[in-house]
Amino acid sequence: MPGPDRDFWQRRFEQRQTPWDRAAPGPHIAAWFAEGTLRAGLRIAVPGCGSGHDALALAQGGCDVTAIDYVSAAIELTRQRLVAHGASAQLVEADVLAWQPTSPLDVVYEQTCWCALHPDNWPAYAAQLHAWLRPGGALLLMAMQCRRDSASEGRIDGPPYHMDINAVRALLPDPQWAWPAPPHAAVPHPVGWTELAIVLKRR
Ligand SMILES: C[S@@+](CC[C@H](N)C(=O)[O-])C[C@H]1O[C@@H](n2cnc3c(N)ncnc32)[C@H](O)[C@@H]1O
Repeated sequence: MPGPDRDFWQRRFEQRQTPWDRAAPGPHIAAWFAEGTLRAGLRIAVPGCGSGHDALALAQGGCDVTAIDYVSAAIELTRQRLVAHGASAQLVEADVLAWQPTSPLDVVYEQTCWCALHPDNWPAYAAQLHAWLRPGGALLLMAMQCRRDSASEGRIDGPPYHMDINAVRALLPDPQWAWPAPPHAAVPHPVGWTELAIVLKRR
């Protein structure tokens, strides 16, 4: 399978080359708590949790968090962050294309794991997101917008891979998912791109 593998990501953490890391939770988490989309008690997965800022914010908000990453360095950073703040979550070192929850989840918080996967993996990942959630559950999707000029030549460059809204819609189609009407909030990312914040309901 083309695209980055576990060793690629492990090296990025070991060499501290993690420019995607905001050193803070994703800014839209606070907005989703404020409007009630996120609230205490929800069973929530954070795939590709990285160094754990989002997992910590969700755990501090009272959510029952499962943080998943297939890189041991990421899981260890997340563990240390949770311990340092007296918070807790389930930590799972696993491939998001293989992991399954023990029972269906209320929420998936998707922050730059999808765009870390080569598009060949996207159909399998979209199927996973659907399988993880209970009917009526929510996918909180931060869809990375990083279109490059090379795309006009048909090149597929990344990570991060541009999450073209047409591709995302094809992989999360109505009627399997209920989509909100656009425009979706565009959240700046420190590396200079933006993410579209979209709440999709799993039907
Ligand atoms: C770009 S980083 C984002 C980390 C974090 N979500 C953030 O926003 O800071 C992508 C993360 O996904 C993890 N990852 C990539 N492919 C994965 C896979 N197939 N299974 C589990 N984790 C994966 C990487 O190890 C890395 O921690």
